[in-house]
Amino acid sequence: MSKSPQDWPEPIVRVQSLSQSCTDSIPDRYIKPPTDRPSSITTTSSEDDANIPIIDLGLGAPYGGDPEPEAQPQASILRQISEACNEWGFFQIVNHGVSPDLMDKARETWREFFHLPMEVKQQYANSPKTYEGYGSRLGVEKGAILDWSDYYYLHYLPLCLKDPNKWPAMPPSCREVFDEYGRELVKLCGRLMKVLSINLGLGENFLQNAFGGEDIGACLRVNFYPKCPRPELTLGLSSHSDPGGMTLLLPDDQVPGLQVRKCDNWITVKPARHAFIVNIGDQIQVMSNAIYKSVEHRVIVNSDKERVSLAFFYNPKSDIPIEPAKELVTLDRPALYPAMTFDEYRRFIRMRGPRGKSQVESLKSRT
Ligand code: OGA
Ligand code: NI
Repeated sequence: MSKSPQDWPEPIVRVQSLSQSCTDSIPDRYIKPPTDRPSSITTTSSEDDANIPIIDLGLGAPYGGDPEPEAQPQASILRQISEACNEWGFFQIVNHGVSPDLMDKARETWREFFHLPMEVKQQYANSPKTYEGYGSRLGVEKGAILDWSDYYYLHYLPLCLKDPNKWPAMPPSCREVFDEYGRELVKLCGRLMKVLSINLGLGENFLQNAFGGEDIGACLRVNFYPKCPRPELTLGLSSHSDPGGMTLLLPDDQVPGLQVRKCDNWITVKPARHAFIVNIGDQIQVMSNAIYKSVEHRVIVNSDKERVSLAFFYNPKSDIPIEPAKELVTLDRPALYPAMTFDEYRRFIRMRGPRGKSQVESLKSRT
């Protein structure tokens, strides 16, 4: 695939501005084909009650110090996470050790950013070269149907990509809050990586080492979904699986919107208070040789409330080959994917935007 282009194929329109000017219709560019619209699959009432598993990690909140950082999680927690990874590819964690206060502060600081005057936000307008900054589309195909959302994308790790000049200077606490939030989430992701490794029957440091040890990548995408006058015709974020390793999502505390695919249904996630939503990304699907699968998800919008979410992506070092763990490749189950660096892998979503699971599936034919 060719190099990322330097600029967008068309002028960028902020969805937040559209939301203010469109009161009873939306531009054609945001209207999805009928099969992709929110109601394309009807859910039965029993599925309305369904939710992704909620798992208590028993770590409390670190009010002054770490709760036994190196302690092995209990067998029952390992088992619950294992079942959730097998059945859903998605779960919520509570008592995960990150302070609820910090979680609220992070989300509300970013909400404030999106409510700053447009001229201020425009100073951070992004380009498809790195995607860092304030953006309103994913993918660079001219004439593509777009999603009903704006976002802010930032690198946290590796340190050489962390560029405070690309972080908003407003609100004033933004940089400091993101720094602390990133530190806490990297720690939590490290713990979860151990759990996944153990559950896959690998040494507890296997996945972390295969990700590049200390040199992993981490980035944040803050999603802003403005109110939409015709929510039944569009999506806030089209169906996709996350290309990276693992994602920790901090959802809006008031407004649901995330839907996870379960067989042929879309299940709307009901977030538990101060929970993170964890999901497996494509790189862990590859490393686990598809024992764990990255699961498709999407976001619906609504007509009376905006929604803010923070997606923290924990990724392999970008230039090392990622391939199925040798321990998980057998005669009966040969390697399903060829080795590929994450740099190479993520070019696809950066060019074409969210497209279900088409990318990871397409790798299979290349072994
Ligand atoms: C994402 C994502 C879900 C949400 O940013 O990759 O899936 O609820 N976000 O915003
Ligand atoms: Ni996602």
